[in-house]
Amino acid sequence: MINDLWYKNAVIYCLSVGTYMDANGDGIGDFTGLLRRLDYLQGLGVTAIWLMPFQVSPHRDDGYDVADYYGVDPRYGTLGDFVEFTHGAEQRGIRVLIDLVINHTSNEHKWFQEARKDPQSKYRDWYVWSKKKPSGINQGMVFPGVQKSTWSYDEEARAWYFHRFYEFQPDLNTSNPEVQAEILKIMGFWLQLGVSGFRMDAVPFIIATKGPDVRQPEEQYDMLRTFREFLQWRRGDCIALAEANVLPDTDLEYFGRDGGRMHMMFNFQVNQNLFYALAAADTRPLAKALKATKPRPTTAQWGLFLRNHDELDLGRLTEEERQTVFAAFGPEPDMQLYERGIRRRLAPMLGGDQRRLELAYSLMFTLPGTPVIRYGDEIGMGDNLKLPERNCARTPMQWSNEPHGGFTKSGKPVLPVIGGGPYGYEHINAAIQRRHPESLLNWTERIIRMRKEVPEVGWGDFTVVPARDPAVLVMRYDWRNNSVLFVHNLDAKPREVTFAVGLDGDNAEEGKLLINLLAEDHSRAGDDGKHRLVIEGYGYRWYRVGGLDYLLRRSEIDQPPVRI
Ligand code: NOJ
Ligand code: CA
Repeated sequence: MINDLWYKNAVIYCLSVGTYMDANGDGIGDFTGLLRRLDYLQGLGVTAIWLMPFQVSPHRDDGYDVADYYGVDPRYGTLGDFVEFTHGAEQRGIRVLIDLVINHTSNEHKWFQEARKDPQSKYRDWYVWSKKKPSGINQGMVFPGVQKSTWSYDEEARAWYFHRFYEFQPDLNTSNPEVQAEILKIMGFWLQLGVSGFRMDAVPFIIATKGPDVRQPEEQYDMLRTFREFLQWRRGDCIALAEANVLPDTDLEYFGRDGGRMHMMFNFQVNQNLFYALAAADTRPLAKALKATKPRPTTAQWGLFLRNHDELDLGRLTEEERQTVFAAFGPEPDMQLYERGIRRRLAPMLGGDQRRLELAYSLMFTLPGTPVIRYGDEIGMGDNLKLPERNCARTPMQWSNEPHGGFTKSGKPVLPVIGGGPYGYEHINAAIQRRHPESLLNWTERIIRMRKEVPEVGWGDFTVVPARDPAVLVMRYDWRNNSVLFVHNLDAKPREVTFAVGLDGDNAEEGKLLINLLAEDHSRAGDDGKHRLVIEGYGYRWYRVGGLDYLLRRSEIDQPPVRI
């Protein structure tokens, strides 16, 4: 296969326009500000931006409550500003993915307003209603502890409506063909304005059957094929990236066994086990999660992330594992959220220790898939636990040590910029870190640069190489007659590991030499063919197997012909 599926080896950066850069001085980030920061992003080396929702919204769930799918919220600018931005991104070779939030609308959306007012309206059946109070309304909440129920009574409609999320987010009746047609129209609209695809919000809920009599919702997976076919037909290089926190045994239903459904999915299984691995210095459950999520069609890709704009959801770990992660990274009640997760940013969870942050990022960049970075994590931004729920990790980007971190000239930013203390903008900002070669920002830039030159991770086949030490993860990737190998020590203490690269046939010889891509200490195998490595606490190594002539050896096809 020709390797032009861009998302297989991309570096995605997610940001919220409202907290990135405020150009017009009203305290809220906007598209003009973001446009001006595109050179920063290009310099960092990211190849795609995932924009959180920016459509018209009352903002009761940070824009995940859309009131008009066909417009930019005026606080962020105009459609004209949006197109200037996508054009600026394209000029710099950066693709734009946008959130597609179509499981539900805002209750202020005119469809819902029509639907509640008039039972004869065509919009009535766009939502999910019940005349009688459905049973089990206190079950299946996504935000337990904050959200009270999944059904609410609407006085005006004189009926109950279903909402998987907050009560101001009525679920769309996604089984209704008219709703499905409208979803395609929304996709078509933004594709025409220059986006390269969608991060699809809440996919398992979009495709689930909904209704007062539905006890056990069933997934209508083939709906995903309809979305995929439409966007691929409109623009051949567009993708759908699904948010679906599901168990590995349904992964192939989402990707499609023939690769005909979602191009990408976030790997929540690996995410949670990765945090457990960091907390316990035990990589065994992570290795298990990697194996469980290994099967996927060649055209499909995982999105790998550490933190995002939501809480770190630990719901799929065992109780014991979850408690281990809580104890290490979120021991206080106000650090935890929704009875299952941690709402902090990455840097404070790891004690602001750069070695540990590098280790975590190095792992993320070398696990099978495409890395997704959260804005601000490249400079190690902190959180503000005084802000409610997930807002604590959504504070404005810290650009400099000027007032409000250089985010705005207004005295009243949309959310307070973190100031004072170890994570305050006075010390943690992009401008200062630009000047220090060893800063996290410059490290991130270098690691992204290197990651792009290691397409084996995005395209290749991986093997977890036995190292007989649970604190150390050794992984090898093979692709087109090239191999790379990564070693990560998740423990604070140094470790000594012994391993065989594990290549056979013609390549066994190559396996005796490992060239370190990030430093001078290369590794030569002993007479027994094994590498012996002393690796410092939280250390990481990126090796090319065999030597730096790899591009001269690379084959043009995935499976080199069998040599006789
Ligand atoms: C998932 C999003 O990531 C989250 O932020 C949002 O609250 C829910 N979906 C509802 O749209
Ligand atoms: Ca503004």
